[in-house]
Amino acid sequence: MTSKSPTSKILENEANSPSTILVIFGASGDLTARKLAPAIFNLSLDGLLPSECFLIGYGRQRMSDDEFKAYLKDSLDAHSRRRIEGKAWEQLERKISFQAGSYDDPKSFEELKLKIEGIEKQLGQPMQCLFYFSTPPGVFKPILENLGKSGLAKRHSQKQFESKVIIEKPFGRDLESARELNEVINRRFEETQVFRIDHYLGKETVQSLLVQRFANSIFEPIWNRNYVSCVQITVSEDLGVGSRGGYYDRSGALRDMMQNHVMQLLALTAMEPPSSLDPEAIRDEKVKALQAIKPLVLGGENSEVVRGVYTQGLVHGEKAEGYLAEKGIPENSFTETYVALCLHIENWRWKGVPFYLRSGKRLATKASEISVQFKRPPEILFGLDERFSLSPNLMVIRIQPNEGITLYLNSKTPGLETKLQPIELAFGYECTFGSNTPEAYERLILDALNGDGTLFIRGDETETSWGLMSPILEYWQERKTRGLENYAAGTWGPLAADKLLLARGHEWLTGKNYES
Ligand code: BG6
Repeated sequence: MTSKSPTSKILENEANSPSTILVIFGASGDLTARKLAPAIFNLSLDGLLPSECFLIGYGRQRMSDDEFKAYLKDSLDAHSRRRIEGKAWEQLERKISFQAGSYDDPKSFEELKLKIEGIEKQLGQPMQCLFYFSTPPGVFKPILENLGKSGLAKRHSQKQFESKVIIEKPFGRDLESARELNEVINRRFEETQVFRIDHYLGKETVQSLLVQRFANSIFEPIWNRNYVSCVQITVSEDLGVGSRGGYYDRSGALRDMMQNHVMQLLALTAMEPPSSLDPEAIRDEKVKALQAIKPLVLGGENSEVVRGVYTQGLVHGEKAEGYLAEKGIPENSFTETYVALCLHIENWRWKGVPFYLRSGKRLATKASEISVQFKRPPEILFGLDERFSLSPNLMVIRIQPNEGITLYLNSKTPGLETKLQPIELAFGYECTFGSNTPEAYERLILDALNGDGTLFIRGDETETSWGLMSPILEYWQERKTRGLENYAAGTWGPLAADKLLLARGHEWLTGKNYES
């Protein structure tokens, strides 16, 4: 079995992925403009696209090839991390075209197939097809069915040229719909052809979690219930729902962030060491960690779930409206914009260690962090005397912004008296490696081109995560606004979320150093 580490992949020249036709469904949408086009362009600047790489934009609206190219060029001007340079763009643009078609009409897919075969004929060689689903989830199924019926799902038997699908989130709304979607996929595709996106996995800092945990021998012996007192994962945003009110109100924080991004951070933090860097070995361990999570207590004194919605407040000193006043939000909405959970992983490593997770919009600041708080040292030498102010050791992994890791230790302050003070051992990505890090989508598209599923969600992984979230969603659905807590925009969420931790002898760590 071949295995590639995230770092070895970066070192290799990967321009040798097979000749490819990348078809983007929903090509005139926001995601193409903000993320996909810049990612493809930057990959081409780095010489990482296959030497023959064609891009077909597919969408319902009519657009000429030139209009589509102009649209992409404008998107690059606005969103690319590197500027458009004449030659690189000219080379890329020659291989870009647009195909108008519907998602549920088999005829449109026959036309797409003819176009793809035309390119193969012209080049006189087989091509891998990569179908990117950047559409609203309502059309995922018809596209999958039509890729199957038209024969586009299975075109070449050689592994390297087999068709692949990249599916954007949301992957289902609950366990049942995720299962249904997986069934449709499985009827037409092998799991190795399927790449379910969670863009958090493409973030440099998230990829490097595995390296930090398993390429250093000092962490593994203490990464367990004997030394860790709690683990906290915060993914906070200061922005509100903006222009996405319609989508967000049908989703909410649990579906939008917790089920996917936050649970992925949890899986990478809690998983056992994989037996190799093979994608399946890594994903097996992630699934096992998720499967060991106990169903959450809903309601009552021991409830392990808090949900909230923002009301008017000040974010970084600027007035911000409450959620119900945002565009597109119905006045009887009971959608949560904040969620906090206390999870227990019932396995040998983590039994008894609470994992506190929270995510929300319109919080005090944007921050994604994993904090591993260690147990207090025994109160024998320094612990008994208050003057020493002994703090538990803490490791904070900052996913974004200020990407880095800080380890908090106790140290003696210089002087004749013995006084203790927490000190920081800090590592910052930018300081060490500079600032021009590839975007998550560059990594993910490159991996899909190469058929490497390590940084994508496997079918059983998404179902396991939904299995934990679905009972919470059902419980909330019954209770509507009952139990939905308010928090002022610009704060760190509802008081009930603080109490969730206080009742268990902890407090939220992220935010302690930020102004709110
Ligand atoms: C998306 C959510 O998946 O992630 C958005 O739909 C959220 O609501 C975004 O704002 C956050 O991503 P990032 O990379 O900015 O942390």
